[in-house]
Amino acid sequence: MEVLIVGDAPAAGVLVAEIIAQHVQPGVSLGLATGSSPLPVYRELIERHARGELSFAGVRAFTLDEYVGLPRSHPESYHSVIRRELTDQVDLDRVDAPDGQATDIPAEAARFEAAIVEAGGIDVQLLGIGTDGHIGFNEPGSSLASRTRVKTLTQQTRDDNARFFDSVDDVPHHVLTQGLGTILDARHLVLIATGSSKAGAVAAAVEGPVSAFCPASVLQLHPHATVVVDEPAAAQLRLADYYRFAAENKPDWQRF
Ligand code: GLP
Repeated sequence: MEVLIVGDAPAAGVLVAEIIAQHVQPGVSLGLATGSSPLPVYRELIERHARGELSFAGVRAFTLDEYVGLPRSHPESYHSVIRRELTDQVDLDRVDAPDGQATDIPAEAARFEAAIVEAGGIDVQLLGIGTDGHIGFNEPGSSLASRTRVKTLTQQTRDDNARFFDSVDDVPHHVLTQGLGTILDARHLVLIATGSSKAGAVAAAVEGPVSAFCPASVLQLHPHATVVVDEPAAAQLRLADYYRFAAENKPDWQRF
């Protein structure tokens, strides 16, 4: 795992956008995340596209998760969010997402898994992290081998996400999410975490035991995981100075 510490959230966004841009070429499949953390990444990708420096022609995208029961037309469905924040603003029109309104949820989960396989797998998966250590919507207790399925949100996650709704009561209890095993199948994982509220979860994910209690700790099992954090989110990392030294002295031949 590579841990890259930068000054603030905008800098984290630019760095992660650079990592993703290095993957972008026809035939590639991107894994996209929602939440606030990826927004600076998407802004940077959109700006590069607007300047004519980056094209998503021939690129496919898959989202991580979706609320169960929320109509796709709802402004806070992840189907709507990812279009609004990224794909409608660039030349990326092949976006697949789990359908949280499917009448047969297990069949929809199986369809989504098969679509990822049919696309040749996900080349680079962008991830945020919840304050309780979730990635996608894999809450604590998620099997480290899990596939796309329904999960029940913790109250902590519903409280965290209430800011996107009129009230916490409007935040759905159930979600459809790529499993931790699904996420591990992507060829490169890039996690972005910014702000002091993420410091505990980041430390548990990077330096704690690999455990379903902190689902993001599953990144420790992946051969190519990059964690980009700003200073406040890095505050509880015990090996922060080592990560800084390694990044500053990175050999030229070593890629992200
Ligand atoms: C949601 C999403 C996650 C995201 C998390 C953190 O729960 N399902 O994919 O990582 O929120 O969001 P934020 O970046 O807004 O803190």
